[in-house]
Amino acid sequence: MDVIRTLLVFFSVLALGQTTNRVLELSDRFLELRGESPWLIMFYAPWCGHCKKLEPIWNHVAHALYGTDIRVGRVDCTRFTAVATEFVVKGFPTVMFVKGDQRHVYKGDRLRDDIVDYAVRMSSPPIPHLASPQHLKDTVTKLNLFFIYAGNKEGHLWEVYREVAEEHRPFHFFYSIDATCMGEYTDLKYNPAVLVFKDNMHFFYPVPEETEIAENESTINASLTDWINHERFPTFAKVTHGNLHQLWKVKKYLVITVVKENKIGRITTDEDAENYVDGYKFKDMVESVIRNNREKYHEHFQFGWTGTPDLANSIAMERLQLPSLLVVNASTMHHHLPEDPPHHLTTAAIEVFLDSILAQSAPVYGGDSWPIRVYRVYYNARSSLEDMWQGNPVLTALLFGLPLGFLSLICYSIWCSDIMDAAEEEEEIPHQKKE
Ligand SMILES: *[C@@H]1O[C@H](CO)[C@@H](O)[C@H](O)[C@H]1NC(C)=O
Ligand SMILES: *[C@@H]1O[C@H](CO)[C@@H](O)[C@H](O)[C@H]1NC(C)=O
Ligand SMILES: *[C@@H]1O[C@H](CO)[C@@H](O)[C@H](O)[C@H]1NC(C)=O
Repeated sequence: MDVIRTLLVFFSVLALGQTTNRVLELSDRFLELRGESPWLIMFYAPWCGHCKKLEPIWNHVAHALYGTDIRVGRVDCTRFTAVATEFVVKGFPTVMFVKGDQRHVYKGDRLRDDIVDYAVRMSSPPIPHLASPQHLKDTVTKLNLFFIYAGNKEGHLWEVYREVAEEHRPFHFFYSIDATCMGEYTDLKYNPAVLVFKDNMHFFYPVPEETEIAENESTINASLTDWINHERFPTFAKVTHGNLHQLWKVKKYLVITVVKENKIGRITTDEDAENYVDGYKFKDMVESVIRNNREKYHEHFQFGWTGTPDLANSIAMERLQLPSLLVVNASTMHHHLPEDPPHHLTTAAIEVFLDSILAQSAPVYGGDSWPIRVYRVYYNARSSLEDMWQGNPVLTALLFGLPLGFLSLICYSIWCSDIMDAAEEEEEIPHQKKE
């Protein structure tokens, strides 16, 4: 089975190499021609390195969306400035969804599947309706996480669901279904009901009591909005530069397991290091804490892991040992670090650590005051310079060395001419004395 799948992937990659490029190269005429069909556009500049990196991914995106009504194109903003101006492009590359007058800038990770999912969500109706139990089954198989409204589409719950779905549409999937089509998930405690499917499970939004709603209609508004916000990430989410901003908004403590992933997505650890800890085992251990204590921690903590230590270092403003555990309070940007070193951390120690955070007795670092902000900017600048140096010392030396060299030459010549003038003046004195 796996062999067949691998072969299929292999052949589709081959086929992909041979098919023509599906990305449409656009010009200023796009402004007149765009019509009403949905467009996914990459605004780029030929000199921009990040654009070059996105290019192969963009071709894959175009290929994946071929046959849908979404057209995939790109605009060279250095040549077609009118388009860039019209769409208020502020950086390169900018990925934008355009349909009629609707525009939305994509903020997530620049990965094929993420971008394709985004385009599909943006171009479909805000809340697609699943017509049968089979459709629901297929969706469960296809998606890792989605929300669904089951029941008659009327009343306050539906209104609020529609609003929240519209707001979160760029990031998550929202559906509706008839209550009779829930198939094997018919343990409907509520009708209408809102559910989230994730981690091969499903959870219900606890609809407030009738009396509570009768008393105050905005109870549903506040509680459904909060609940969806709380549930919109998997139990153990991967934390990336693309979704960090959304994770901050979940309004829970973010527990980040920090490991290092190499280019092909494998976790690496320095096996020669003293007190070496296996990154995979460490990550599994942290995950088991949330899996075994969902009741206790789910409400207050969003668990996750990152394979990009830089992201965590920048929050902690220090180079963290790998692997490590970092807990961030997004509303204050304070963070907590366990006192035990990684090789002493056990599930029990992690629980003690998390409990101490809830009790507000754990040591607190960082924050959002302006000296800390300044330090964070300084730290980030310094570490990216260090990374550049490690990646390419010659280029870094040239980039920073040349201007510095010129500057010192200028200083030197200004300073030296002073000295020379002074020396001349000084020299004159013995002259005069001689005469
Ligand atoms: C829910 O609350 C938001 C903000 O308070 C408000 O804008 C919106 O109209 C409310 N929605 C409903 C359906 O009451
Ligand atoms: C209704 O509930 C909302 C949110 O729970 C609250 O902000 C508001 O003050 C309440 N209104 C009344 C009239 O109790
Ligand atoms: C973050 O810190 C504030 C202030 O100490 C606290 O009130 C809040 O409960 C903490 N947790 C979260 C998840 O915001």
